[in-house]
Amino acid sequence: MSTQPNPTHVHDKIERNIGLMMILIAVAVSFGGLAEIVPLMFQAEAIKPLPGIKPYSALELAGRDVYQREGCYNCHSQMVRTLRFETERYGHYSLAGESVYDHPFQWGSKRTGPDLARVGLRGYSDDWHRAHLNNPRDVVPESNMPAYPWLAKHKLDGDEVAAHMRALRRVGVPYSDADIAGAPAAVAGKTEQDAVIAYLQGLGTHLTPADDQARAGED
Ligand code: HEC
Repeated sequence: MSTQPNPTHVHDKIERNIGLMMILIAVAVSFGGLAEIVPLMFQAEAIKPLPGIKPYSALELAGRDVYQREGCYNCHSQMVRTLRFETERYGHYSLAGESVYDHPFQWGSKRTGPDLARVGLRGYSDDWHRAHLNNPRDVVPESNMPAYPWLAKHKLDGDEVAAHMRALRRVGVPYSDADIAGAPAAVAGKTEQDAVIAYLQGLGTHLTPADDQARAGED
């Protein structure tokens, strides 16, 4: 048998035409991606909020914005993995239905500090958070977390929070007209620090024991 490539063979045609090869590689690779991603879009468990999960209150949402602006996610993930040492430390592993109202989600993998997905269950008081945000070393002497003292000095802008709620409603977060109209009053006089603390205190607290049991049955 000849070792010469057979120019009529379809593989030879593709391998000799780098443009065609690139297009076909892209098609082949996207099949793999689609096979993984598309089913997730239709899985009720991944796209439906769990029973206890509500959209963030106006104050929590404002806090989430500050959290993103300050780059807290550069050091803190918000996703408890399904590994024993993670659940022992942080609590129940994160479920997709817990972050359906998060646009964008804050899962992440960078952990200079601890995961914060369930920090609301840790029992820290608002005053602890206040002291910690003003200067982490006042409450955790060995901490290398930066201080954020300016958050206590900046007041929130209620109209901006309302506008953000309106934008989130467009992508499916079920805020009512009353929620949006009430936002300026809900955050009036509050500081960015109040907002971040409200956000942190709520993290991970909405998973109900029923969700937990439903999942335990499935595993
Ligand atoms: C440079 C990395 C870094 C950044 C940025 C950072 N942190 Fe931290 N954070 C840490 C480290 C390290 C710890 C653990 C020591 C401590 O408690 O201070 C921590 C601890 C915490 C804790 C206590 C968690 C627990 O379970 O004990 C909270 C809450 C927290 N950070 C919130 C924030 C918020 C909110 C921001 C943004 C405003 C932020 N962090 C930004 C590194 C960081």
